[in-house]
Order: sequence, then structure tokens, then C-alpha cells
Amino acid sequence: MSEVYEDPQILDEYLLFHFGRGNEILDPMVQYPEGMKQALDFAVRTPSHFSKKPVAKGLDLGCAVGRSTFEMARHCQEVVGVDFSHRFIAAANLLKNEGKLDYSRLDEGLKKTHMTARLPEGIDSSRVKFMQADAMHLPADLGSFDRVHAANLLCRLSDPVLLLNRFGDLVARGGELVLATPCTWLETYTPRENWPRSNTFDWLREYLSETFDLRSECDEPFLIRETARKFQWTRSMITVWKRR
Ligand SMILES: C[S@@+](CC[C@H](N)C(=O)[O-])C[C@H]1O[C@@H](n2cnc3c(N)ncnc32)[C@H](O)[C@@H]1O
Repeated sequence: MSEVYEDPQILDEYLLFHFGRGNEILDPMVQYPEGMKQALDFAVRTPSHFSKKPVAKGLDLGCAVGRSTFEMARHCQEVVGVDFSHRFIAAANLLKNEGKLDYSRLDEGLKKTHMTARLPEGIDSSRVKFMQADAMHLPADLGSFDRVHAANLLCRLSDPVLLLNRFGDLVARGGELVLATPCTWLETYTPRENWPRSNTFDWLREYLSETFDLRSECDEPFLIRETARKFQWTRSMITVWKRR
């Protein structure tokens, strides 16, 4: 089902989700529940779970159009953003190289609004590199990283254990791993036999505890606008791990 993320409409939704300002996502004339406002800027909030000290290398798996990858560059000398979608990686590279990218926001039916995604202030995009690759079959020579981030990726993989088993090599000793998952297991992405047998938190602990210490666990909400009146408003479970 990875072709979902090659759809031009989904690209537009993700550019808005990652780079849209609050008043571009939520109509300022409408009274929305406070919680919807708190769900903005998810792609900025998930990498904020890393410690703030400067480090050499970061990796953002399932980076989509790259907002969290760019945010990680505030504290990492080099960051690699990896996504399976050629269309998402092409958009992320345009943002890196041009600093902006035009797209459309769907309001309803055929009505669209012209928008421009812009790189946020204070980010050195020369620190960032994007790469199309499969997170379940990453190149053997990718190396190890001080920080690894994978937001809303695990339950979009057909065999997520392949990635869980790779984290021990991907995260350098003493390094940090931030995982976000809304635990929305669906057969369209993951065959049922590869879903966690109990709950996702216990499943993560089962696979990661041998090499990682769990540092914290919480939920972060996110909001993806599909049209002016239709949103995905969801909570993602965030776990922060430190490689022993
Ligand atoms: C639900 S989106 C999350 C994107 C982003 N991390 C965020 O939090 O907004 C899932 C992302 O994972 C990517 N993806 C799906 N399967 C993948 C795979 N096998 N390897 C790498 N990326 C994959 C999709 O292209 C998409 O960009």
C-alpha cells in the first residue's frame, strides 16, 4: 500500500501538515475545540523529545516531506531523511534546495487554495540529506546515528519487526531513539500476523529492551487536514529510548 504516499493529493496534505501555519490549517473564523489547536505542529513536537545537546548524526525514518528532518538539523551536524515515497523525497529535496515549494490546499470538491511551504527560520539545510529507501531493508553500510526518529511509520510497514531488529545497529551506543506510533494497525499496510500480539507498548518493550532503556512514554496529538471540514485528529504514542 506504499503507493498511497505517491498520490499528489496526499503530497499536498503532508505539505500542509508539516509546513502549514495554524491559520492555514484551521480557518480563523471557525471555533474549533482547543484540542485541535494543540494537535498542530506534530512534526516539530516529535523531534523535540530528543535531548537538546548538539550531536553529530541524526536519522529520520519515514520522513515524508521532511519537516522533522529539518528540525533535527537544529541540533545535529548531519541528518539523513529516508522515505519510501519518491514523490515525498522529491518534494523534500525541492524544499532543501529552493527553500520553498508551491502546492494546493483542498477546500472542498474542486475548490483549492494556492499555498507555499517554506523552510522554517534558523535551519541550515546544508546539514540535511534526503534518500529514497525502504526502512525495512536499509543499506547495510548506512552506519550508526546519535539520534534516530521514526514517527508514524511502524504501523505503515508490512513487517515492522525487520526495522525493530535493526535499531540496535542504527543507534550508536548512548544514542537516542524516538518512536511515535498511533498504533493504527490495518491489514492494508501490515498483514495481521505481523501486528503486535498484545498491545504496541509491550511489543516495543519486547523487541527493544535488550539493547535500549526506556526513558519516557507519553502521547502527542496530531491533526491532518483533508478538506476545510474533514480532519484526521489522532493521538500518537511517543516512546523515547536510550541505547545502552
Ligand atoms: C503516516 S506517514 C508519517 C510521516 C511523518 N513521519 C510524519 O510523522 O508526519 C508514513 C510515512 O512512511 C513512509 N513509508 C511507508 N513505508 C515505508 C518504508 N517501507 N520505508 C520508508 N518509508 C516508508 C510513507 O511514505 C510516509 O511518508
